[in-house]
Amino acid sequence: MKRLAIFASGTGSNAKQLIDYFSGNKDISVALLVSNRKEARALEIARNSNVPAVNFTKEEFYNSSTVIEKLVSEKIDFIVLAGFLIKIPDNILKAYENKIINIHPALLPDFGGKGMYGLNVHKAVIESGKKESGITIHLVNEHYDEGRILYQAKCPVLENDTAEILATRVQELEHRYFPEVVEHFISGKL
Ligand code: GRF
Repeated sequence: MKRLAIFASGTGSNAKQLIDYFSGNKDISVALLVSNRKEARALEIARNSNVPAVNFTKEEFYNSSTVIEKLVSEKIDFIVLAGFLIKIPDNILKAYENKIINIHPALLPDFGGKGMYGLNVHKAVIESGKKESGITIHLVNEHYDEGRILYQAKCPVLENDTAEILATRVQELEHRYFPEVVEHFISGKL
């Protein structure tokens, strides 16, 4: 059994998809949800599904071994970032090399990097005049949004799109593909 930790800072709609998808799976389980914001809806979503959920302060992430100790004690094999808005500390990156997966709401390598999250991404896509956007699921290394790409899916950018409308279209792709791609990666198919 491979044990996943989901890291999430916000609403947790992708966390929910992952939890539901893997519930009852005999090879992969969501064993922990980690947040850096105690008011994150994602914590509540996990607890409602009986997934242990913990919040750590920024201080604990960057200046202590509390988080890594928790991951080790929970025997976590893989980490999935689902809207996790702070940089992964080096000690976690080292311990989980090639075992941290992120989802980005655009087609990397464009529209990635610092500050490119939430509606900022979709505004930048619309302003660029690109006719397509989509999702990128990738491994995480020490550079924002630059790890190996595992999977991309595309959707159109339409003439009258606002950032909010495009965000909804992209989110549908996230919910449709993210859990399956995580499963394929963990089972060595990607
Ligand atoms: C998603 O758009 C994901 O691509 C990005 O953060 C957002 C998280 O949304 N990394 P939610 O909290 O899962 O609804």
